[in-house]
Amino acid sequence: MPVALIIGASRGIGHELALQYKAAGWRVIATARKEEDLAALQSAGCEALSLDVTNLNDCTGLGRHLNDEKLDVAILNAGVFGPRTDGLTAPDQQQFDAVMHTNVWAAMRILPIVLPLVEKTRGRLAVLSSSMASIGERSNPAGWLYRASKTALNSVLKDVSLSTEKAICVAMDPGWVQTDMGGSGAEITVDVSVAGIRQTLAALKPADNGKYLEYTGAEHGW
Ligand SMILES: NC(=O)c1ccc[n+]([C@@H]2O[C@H](COP(=O)([O-])OP(=O)(O)OC[C@H]3O[C@@H](n4cnc5c(N)ncnc54)[C@H](OP(=O)(O)O)[C@@H]3O)[C@@H](O)[C@H]2O)c1
Repeated sequence: MPVALIIGASRGIGHELALQYKAAGWRVIATARKEEDLAALQSAGCEALSLDVTNLNDCTGLGRHLNDEKLDVAILNAGVFGPRTDGLTAPDQQQFDAVMHTNVWAAMRILPIVLPLVEKTRGRLAVLSSSMASIGERSNPAGWLYRASKTALNSVLKDVSLSTEKAICVAMDPGWVQTDMGGSGAEITVDVSVAGIRQTLAALKPADNGKYLEYTGAEHGW
């Protein structure tokens, strides 16, 4: 039975990823940080692990817990948007730290732990990036702290991809999705986004390692 690890599966895209992999017959290891979310994941048949991605002890505990696992798919989904700015309003220290620690620092802690487990199966490792990460395709500065964090996350993913010859590592833009973060006016439903992400990951070839992809499988401009 293939195994998926979904990091940040309490709601939104991460929760749907856990449910869809489970429904497809996978063994799913899913993380959340609240008791009620862990209980809901367990009720859905997932193996639930408590993890706040900004907590160093939680991250090292994840490594210890997963040590013997072989992961076919690992997805780092947890993320925050931060201040909804239009112009060049500087974030305060707390806002900056919350976004950068969650979206970037956590990836630099967690991906080195997870990569060897994915390499054991020559599997797929994805981070949830965003179209807002792209510098080349950018046309406005709205949410510039979030943009900076996701551009940095793309850089981290690229470096991870350059350090493996066994796993296929990608930055995944899920589209503009109807979740708490995307809002109800977003373009696509969470089930459409997640079905696309799963299909795209399943179709990856070794030559795709290090790519920045849309949920449709199309390549995204950096
Ligand atoms: N929705 C969109 O349109 C869109 C577009 C582009 C990219 N994305 C990216 O896709 C990913 C999922 O987005 P979403 O729309 O599903 O967002 P969401 O509904 O706001 O859910 C965010 C998820 O991240 C988790 N999370 C946040 N901080 C965490 C932390 N410190 N430790 C552990 N988990 C944490 C949340 O857990 P809690 O419930 O515990 O807070 C929740 O499971 C994010 O990385 C986001 O940047 C989303």
